[in-house]
Amino acid sequence: MIVRPTAGGVEVLAPAKLNLFLEVLGKRPDGYHELESLMVAVDLYDTLSFADDASGRVTLRCDDPSLPTDGRNLVVKAAERLRAESGCPRGAAIELRKSIPAQAGLAGGSSDAAAALVALDRLWELNTPPGRLSELAGEIGSDVPFFLHGPAAVCRGRGERVEELAPPRALHFVLVCPEVGLSTADVYRHVTPPARPRPIGPVVQALAGGGTAALGSCLFNRLQSPAEELAPVLRHVRDGLAELVGPSLDGSLMSGSGSAYFGLARDRGAAEDAARRLETLGLGRVRVVTSGP
Ligand code: C5P
Repeated sequence: MIVRPTAGGVEVLAPAKLNLFLEVLGKRPDGYHELESLMVAVDLYDTLSFADDASGRVTLRCDDPSLPTDGRNLVVKAAERLRAESGCPRGAAIELRKSIPAQAGLAGGSSDAAAALVALDRLWELNTPPGRLSELAGEIGSDVPFFLHGPAAVCRGRGERVEELAPPRALHFVLVCPEVGLSTADVYRHVTPPARPRPIGPVVQALAGGGTAALGSCLFNRLQSPAEELAPVLRHVRDGLAELVGPSLDGSLMSGSGSAYFGLARDRGAAEDAARRLETLGLGRVRVVTSGP
């Protein structure tokens, strides 16, 4: 997350995330799933601007008309949660410019919510302790706390228990966002926790080692098969990327609960080469992204 002051308040670049590894350890009594996941932030950003509103109202404007701008939007939820917590009487005029697609497994809404927590804490001069801000983030959504910690972390529990990792060297990905989106709840409903979960250790070590060949061979997502059963068209995206593993990519995977897929490239040039090839296949919107703040 990149936070900068502006003349009228605060502007935040809220990054997307990719899951380089996601294992489901079991189903919990509260209906959620116990996870172990390795996440990295990438330089595909939503842009949010925050200005103080002395009237005390929180208002959100968004350039994507398909998204709600009331209490159903996680940005408004975050603002209201922070206000209730602090008793702050101030309001905010918030503008959200979307670049991260929804229902893609890239956690755009969660990142926007984390941006709102950080920006409003600053704008309203609340000085909320970091641990408390993380707890509030976890109440808003399982993926929200990661964005307070990035750019790389192991996430456990529902996803809200975040262990920060040393920032990796720049990793270059080609990202494919298909037309079809997936509901996170639907995908989790179709997953079967394995009898013997795959350990997260090897992928964490590979990330620390810095080589993309080792990292590429450790990529894994337990949600990918159920997502492909729910939306079989995604198998074309999987196969399109898999064909480039070897020539220009070191591995490929679906992110989170889908529907976006990514390929891990050796360098920027290889990612751009893969992007050119994938663009001809009509699988969805193709971008090159790099890990970053
Ligand atoms: O926490 P969040 O609101 O983002 O989760 C959306 C849905 O995804 C939950 O309602 C739940 O059905 C599912 N989920 C889950 N286990 C997790 C995270 C999410 O089952 N660890």
